[in-house]
Amino acid sequence: MAEPGKVDMDKIASLVKRRGFLFQSSEIYGGLASCWDYGPLGVELKNNIKREWWKTNVQQRDDIVGLDASILMHPDVWVASGHVGGFVDPMVDCKDCRKRWRSDHLNGDKCPECGGEVTEPRMFNLMLKTFLGPVEDSAHQVYMRPETAQGIFVNFTNVLNVTRKKLPFGIAQIGKAFRNEITPGNLTFRTREFEMMEIEYFVKPGTDKELHQKWLDARLQWYVDLGINRDHVQLRKHGDDELAHYAQGCYDVEYLFPMGWMELEGIANRSDFDLSQHASASGKELSYFDDESGEHITPYVIEPSAGVDRSALAFLTDAYHEELDDKGDLRVMLKLHPKLAPIKVAILPLSKKETLSPLAREIYATVRDEFMTQYDDTQSIGKRYRRQDEIGTPICVTVDFNSLEDKQVTLRDRDSMKQIRVPIAELVAVLTAKLNSEPF
Ligand code: GAP
Repeated sequence: MAEPGKVDMDKIASLVKRRGFLFQSSEIYGGLASCWDYGPLGVELKNNIKREWWKTNVQQRDDIVGLDASILMHPDVWVASGHVGGFVDPMVDCKDCRKRWRSDHLNGDKCPECGGEVTEPRMFNLMLKTFLGPVEDSAHQVYMRPETAQGIFVNFTNVLNVTRKKLPFGIAQIGKAFRNEITPGNLTFRTREFEMMEIEYFVKPGTDKELHQKWLDARLQWYVDLGINRDHVQLRKHGDDELAHYAQGCYDVEYLFPMGWMELEGIANRSDFDLSQHASASGKELSYFDDESGEHITPYVIEPSAGVDRSALAFLTDAYHEELDDKGDLRVMLKLHPKLAPIKVAILPLSKKETLSPLAREIYATVRDEFMTQYDDTQSIGKRYRRQDEIGTPICVTVDFNSLEDKQVTLRDRDSMKQIRVPIAELVAVLTAKLNSEPF
């Protein structure tokens, strides 16, 4: 039996593949290593995470606006940002089995796979390159962005001009990023193509430390509010040896993954480094006119930077539960927060008979206008409950023969398995309340 916080990654991998959260990329061609496709349930989960992040950080705040910048950017952006010169990892190759490792991840100087001798470390730039236009030469080479953040910095003046925001204000963005990781793995934990949710929050120098602390608290709480056990997330302060020279401080939100405490999100105080770098490299002013002092200032920036895929993996891991039912059979459940559950409601007619299905279909048509809903009339009701438990559906609605007479249906709660009878006329209102955490 899996204890929360001690779930085996193999169990998560088996569930997500079995139920279609994740597929190996290009599977029919043998797959492409560490690239993943999100299946029907995975895309719902990921969209829900992104929607909740956007709602909390853009929709519900006056001081943050959104952006969707291009993945491909002028190559000079990555010189100014420091990625061309500095976005490198030291890498070694095993002379025997040819496996490649990050040297700073090795405990010793032997290959962890076969014990063979490894080469001297070489620096390896993590940015993926591609070419624009028909000619593959250095004049046409561009990078696939390794983070979304630079799209925000280079648009600082554009956004400021159209929104007339006052400091402190932020720009939020969700989008794909690419890194030629040397040691991808652990399912979607580290991949070469992934999605980020980043905020650049511009502040007056001097207010940065206080606002950094506010972001640390807010971002940790976001995961807890969406169902992560408070004991499974922590903030870790970066040591001086981990900090970039310009950074005033950086923390990671860490989650207790099956392989240990690992980074879920980085929250850095990046000083005025990025805006200053782009201002001097582009020759364009990237500053803010401060009414109070009557001066142009270069804001400092606080950067909460999260991974969508890593968050999805953490939410899945934390939601994974096993229990034995009264017959001694294993019940696997994803106790996902209703806001994140891929399917919110399942409509389950007790029988496939002609007499029941018109009413069940009618209820399905009404409910699915409001929530992501599944209709399932195959196999026994017990098996159908189990299938919904395993994908995290918070509420099952059973339509039985009495429903034809009393115009009521039975609602079953995933976690407590409690059941209540509800008039069909009130179904959508009751579902709305229950999905918003009203107890059963
Ligand atoms: N702009 C700041 C930045 O890029 P980062 O710590 O390198 O910071 C932020 O990345 C987040 O993006 C990480 O906390 C993680 O959730 C996610 N992330 C980074 N590299 C990843 C990878 N190779 N695969 C999956 N997620 C990744």
